[in-house]
Amino acid sequence: MKLAQKLAQKLAKYGQEHLLSFDGLNETECDAYLSQLEAIDFGLLESLHRPLPRRGQISPAPLLTVEEIAQRREEYERAGVAALRAGKVACVLLAGGQGTRLGTKDPKGAFDIGVTKPVYIFELLIRNLLGVCERCGAYVPLLIMTSEKNDAATKQFLEAHTYFGYPAAYVRFFTQELLPCVDLDGKIMLETRGRLVLSPGGNGGWYASLMKSGVAQEFPNAEWYNVFGVDNVLQRIADPVFIGATILSGAQSGSKIVAKTDPEEHVGMLCLEDGKPAVIEYFELTSEMAHARDGDGNLRYRCGIVLNYLFSKRMLENIATQRIPVHVVKKRIACMGADGKTRMPETENGYKFETLILDFVNLAGSCLPFEVEREKEFAPVKNRTGKDSVATARALLRANGMEL
Ligand code: UTP
Repeated sequence: MKLAQKLAQKLAKYGQEHLLSFDGLNETECDAYLSQLEAIDFGLLESLHRPLPRRGQISPAPLLTVEEIAQRREEYERAGVAALRAGKVACVLLAGGQGTRLGTKDPKGAFDIGVTKPVYIFELLIRNLLGVCERCGAYVPLLIMTSEKNDAATKQFLEAHTYFGYPAAYVRFFTQELLPCVDLDGKIMLETRGRLVLSPGGNGGWYASLMKSGVAQEFPNAEWYNVFGVDNVLQRIADPVFIGATILSGAQSGSKIVAKTDPEEHVGMLCLEDGKPAVIEYFELTSEMAHARDGDGNLRYRCGIVLNYLFSKRMLENIATQRIPVHVVKKRIACMGADGKTRMPETENGYKFETLILDFVNLAGSCLPFEVEREKEFAPVKNRTGKDSVATARALLRANGMEL
C-alpha cells in the first residue's frame, strides 16, 4: 500500500481527514507536512475521552522540617558534597516552556528582572549554582532542556553571556518533544496550510528527551538528577543539604517543599495516595482537608511543591518503560483561520497535551519532602504583575540582600 493511502486510512480511523489536503503546497512543503503527519502519536487523542483517574486514599505526607534539617545539617551537607565531588549529581534545568503568562517572546530565562542594571533569570540561577561548585571544588553538569521554539534563542543568549561564568564544558542542551494540539471538537489543528500546530508537550518528557539526545550518556557517573524549573529565582540548585538528606533517607526521590500557611493557596501538594507519595492539585483537596490542622496548629496538608526535585537514576530507568499520564489542558491556541492566516483567539479554542514532572513522584514510589524556608528559596516569576510576578520576585530578591 502506498504511504499516502496508509496515512489517509489512519487519519480516517481517528476522524482527522481534514488534514489530508495538500492544496497549494510545493514539493518541499509537502514533504515537511507529510513527515509531521507521520510523526503524530494518535494514541494521544484517546486522552481526550479518558475519564480522570479516581484518586486513592489521600493522607498528609510526613515531611522533613526546617528544624529537623537544621539539627542534622552538617551530616547532610557532608553526604551531599561527597556526591557532588564524585560527579554523582547532574542538574537539569527545565526551560522548554513558553512563558505565556509572563508574556515575553524571549526564553523566560533571558528575562531581565533588574531595575538599575540588567539581572537575568539565567544569571541568577547560574550564579547560585556557581556558589555550590566553589564550595564543593567541583563543577556539576548543567543540562538545559529547551524546545524547538526557544532552542536557538536560548543557546544564543547564553553563549552571548558566556554562560554567566559557568564552564561551557559542563553545559549541554537538549530539546523536548513537541505535540500536536486539537480544537474543542478534537480535530488536530493547523497553524497554516501544510503545517500542524505543535506545542511543547509539558515538562514530564524531560527524561525521555534527555536519553534520546545522548546527553545523559556523556555523564555516566551521574546517579542523581536535580531537576528544577526556570522561574524560581531564589531556589538553591544542587543544594548539598537536600542531596545529602535524600540520599541518606534511602528514598528514590526528594522534593523541596514550602509549608503552605494559607489553606486557600493555589499550589500543588505533596501528599500520600494509598500510602505512596503523590502530588495532588489544590482543587483536589476537600475544603475540610485544606483547613485541617495538627496539634501544633500547622496545616496538616502543607507540603507545597516548588518544582525542585532529586531523582535517582535507578528509579528513572525503572519508570522509563511506563506510560506517564497525559494531561489535557484547555488553552488559547494560535491557529489558521478560514482566510489561511494564523491568529491567536480571544478565548480558549482547543486543548494541549502535556506530561508533567510532578507525576514522577508517584512513579518513584518513595519521596522525601524536604522543607525549605519560603522567604529564602521561593520567588517564582510566573506573571507580569500581581501574584508570583516580577514585582513579588524583586521584593523577595531584595529581602535576601540582592542588588537589582
Ligand atoms: P510552567 O507550568 O510555569 O509553564 O512551567 P511555562 O510554559 O513556563 O509558563 P506559562 O504557563 O506558559 O505561563 C514550569 C516549568 O516547566 C518548564 C518551564 O520552562 C518551567 O521551568 N516547562 C514547561 C518545560 O520545560 N516544558 C514545557 O513544555 C512546559
